[in-house]
Amino acid sequence: MLATRTRYVCQECGGAQSKWHGRCPSCEAWGSLVEEVVKAGGTRGRGEVTVPGARRPVALAEVEATRHDRLATGINEFDRVLGGGLVPGSIVLVGGDPGVGKSTLTTMALARLAHHHGVLMVCGEESPAQVRMRAERIGGAGRIGVVAETDLDIVCATLIAERPAVAVIDSVQTLWSSELSSAPGSVAQVREAAGRLMRVAKEHAITIILVGHVTKDGAVAGPRVLEHLVDAVLVFEGERTSELRVLRATKNRFGSTSEIGVFEMTGAGLGQVSDPSALLGRGDLGGPGSVVACSVEGSRPLLLEVQALVAPSELAMPRRLATGFDRNRLAMILAVLSRHAGIPVASADVFVNVAGGVSIEEPAADLAVAIAIASAARGAPTGPLVVFGELGLTGRLRIVAQAERRLREAQRLGLTHAIAPAGTAAVSGTSLRTAATIADALAIALPAGAP
Ligand SMILES: Nc1ncnc2c1ncn2[C@@H]1O[C@H](COP(=O)(O)OP(=O)(O)OP(=O)(O)O)[C@@H](O)[C@H]1O
Ligand SMILES: [Mg+2]
Ligand SMILES: [Zn+2]
Repeated sequence: MLATRTRYVCQECGGAQSKWHGRCPSCEAWGSLVEEVVKAGGTRGRGEVTVPGARRPVALAEVEATRHDRLATGINEFDRVLGGGLVPGSIVLVGGDPGVGKSTLTTMALARLAHHHGVLMVCGEESPAQVRMRAERIGGAGRIGVVAETDLDIVCATLIAERPAVAVIDSVQTLWSSELSSAPGSVAQVREAAGRLMRVAKEHAITIILVGHVTKDGAVAGPRVLEHLVDAVLVFEGERTSELRVLRATKNRFGSTSEIGVFEMTGAGLGQVSDPSALLGRGDLGGPGSVVACSVEGSRPLLLEVQALVAPSELAMPRRLATGFDRNRLAMILAVLSRHAGIPVASADVFVNVAGGVSIEEPAADLAVAIAIASAARGAPTGPLVVFGELGLTGRLRIVAQAERRLREAQRLGLTHAIAPAGTAAVSGTSLRTAATIADALAIALPAGAP
């Protein structure tokens, strides 16, 4: 084996050091040095590469297009988010909070795939006995090969020797390379592991699913670098208090990132929720502070309840908390409400929550959030209705795409009253009221004189 050396490279300026420093000697950034392996005869300094021999480019048309079919897991909600199944030789990162169900989902996928393909589970966090218990709970033990290993060299050697069609590494943070002195889970180790596994995946046509933990700030596996290395990043979300789980692609080289998969955690594993509007509670829809939004996620419209609470604040800087909704977008909506609709929120704490543990990323949800806040501020109910529209800084509403599908989905679930931006076409069976501005929309939703 080649003797290897490591060095510490600044993530800010690229300067390389032979020893670790808390502060980069070149650019003075703090905590920016990350260890990496120096390959013999490889990179010397930044931009200074020794070239062993030039290569001749090949015309793209002559590249052998190995058009393997995707490996469908048979779990529709998972396959849809992947873009139709796993692409052979690709590397997919599945991230999520502790306990959300990452191991359950990946074990279920392996159990299904094992009927027709070789599969391998590399567990670094749990013992094979624990993995077996989980697999039995979800009814898929038996065909899955398991290896309990955290040494990156051994994991790579095992993958190459076994050549499974699909391997799950649970989790990437437990792997460590003896070539690096950094601790397992550190940026250096995680990046080295992902880089080496990617080469194994591409060279040996093994599909690798990496399980990663999400850090507090929401970055998958801590370093964002990991997201660049892998072909797809799937994030598994859910609330502690709810059984519902949503799988979303934040990056996908082989598919759309707008599709979501919806699951329900049960004693027998993750059940698929093929009607995601079922996320919509049957509770007090349309009560004060509650408005139903309809967002279109990928190929499916999705009804979601937006809840708001507005309360006088005792703080100089009132609290603004959003769960499932972008915080900056909330700040913008509050400013528009106060400037263009006379809703006094400047000295109030405002909380916004999308029920069901799902997050809404479409600006089409703006109007629902705005009306929910106004309804909460006035303590006045809107009654059951569905609302969509994008809010501009001037207080004008912008029309959104696929209005008809949204209205039909609401109709299907019994919501036949709607408010949408002016210009939105009506559909039969729904009483649609349109508004040009946020003030008009509020006049419709919360008529003056109402409680
Ligand atoms: N017998 C059971 N009945 C119902 N739900 C269960 C049962 N056993 C486990 N669970 C659910 O499964 C979840 C754990 O799932 P899993 O181990 O797949 O999560 P994970 O994301 O891999 O977690 P970690 O980050 O700890 O590895 C638990 O939080 C619990 O909700
Ligand atoms: Mg796990
Ligand atoms: Zn530096």
